[in-house]
Amino acid sequence: MHDTTALVDIAARMPKAELHLHLEGTLEPEMLLDLARRNAVPVRFSTADEVRQAYEFTGLQSFLDLYYEGIGVMRTAQDFHDLTAAYLRRASADGVRHIEPFFDPQAHTRRGVPFDDVVGGIVSALREGERELGITWRLVMCFLRDLPAIDAFETLGQALPYRDVITAVGLDSSEIGNPPEKFEGVFSLARAEGFQTVSHAGEEGDAGHVRRTLDTLHVSRIDHGVSSMTDPALVERLVAEGIPLTICPLSNVKLGGFASVREHPLREMLDAGIVATLNSDDPAYFGGYLLDNYRAAIEELGLGRDHLHTLARNSFEASFLTAAEKDARLAEVDAFFAQEC
Ligand code: ADE
Ligand code: ZN
Repeated sequence: MHDTTALVDIAARMPKAELHLHLEGTLEPEMLLDLARRNAVPVRFSTADEVRQAYEFTGLQSFLDLYYEGIGVMRTAQDFHDLTAAYLRRASADGVRHIEPFFDPQAHTRRGVPFDDVVGGIVSALREGERELGITWRLVMCFLRDLPAIDAFETLGQALPYRDVITAVGLDSSEIGNPPEKFEGVFSLARAEGFQTVSHAGEEGDAGHVRRTLDTLHVSRIDHGVSSMTDPALVERLVAEGIPLTICPLSNVKLGGFASVREHPLREMLDAGIVATLNSDDPAYFGGYLLDNYRAAIEELGLGRDHLHTLARNSFEASFLTAAEKDARLAEVDAFFAQEC
């Protein structure tokens, strides 16, 4: 039997991956203000506290409005490098060994920032992180679902020369009013071009959104998917087909999906056999990085050692590592828990 402090310590030390993390969602208020100064971008905030006071979200859209406002201070490849490097330092401190972060190129190209500066800045930091911190990575490019599908096709075209560094495409931003069917064509083309696919679904949308995302976009994993738990047949399908969900409890609470982590279905998901993973989503805005999400799940949902073992395994199982790389990581996880009685 472990107490919660011992369990959080295990969560910190166990090998694990983070698969649902928006790089732009790691923009801390201090960096937002630094970049605003560096790039001479006017902002309505003068102190970090003032930015944090704006973190009162009534739902996904009210968060996205602030998220896109914050993104406006990012202009150069160096900015994207610095943002990514800061996240890597935090992830390393939390014991993260592999990451598959998202970025939103359209949020930058529509402001005139060249696609190459965005990808170049991010990838230079990811390569440094791999060399210096030993954190491996796959990069996921998201389309903004509130923009027209034709814009997603254009963005996919921009990504083609970067297939060596962009592994997958995803779909994020406002779920309600922007159904998966809108992106069926561009996801089909992305698959034909060799990209893996993921999509946000069932964050604010119902279980039907998750089902239709699987049926029309044929994604390998669902980001969030929390509403799946209201549909037993869908749960059965997720388990039978081994479709992972990337779960972000602090995000779901901050955006009003649940009154507290205590109400979150993560534990039922694990107990049902869903390949659920634990992640931080937009940690600068939602009150914590990966280990904070583990701490909340341990303290408020009563997760035990076996749940942690499963979450660590799931984080690599659900990743885009090769089969051989996954086997090696899973062996590391099992070895860690074997000596951690
Ligand atoms: N973009 C950044 N964070 C997001 C989230 N939690 N849901 C949808 N789109 C996002
Ligand atoms: Zn997300």
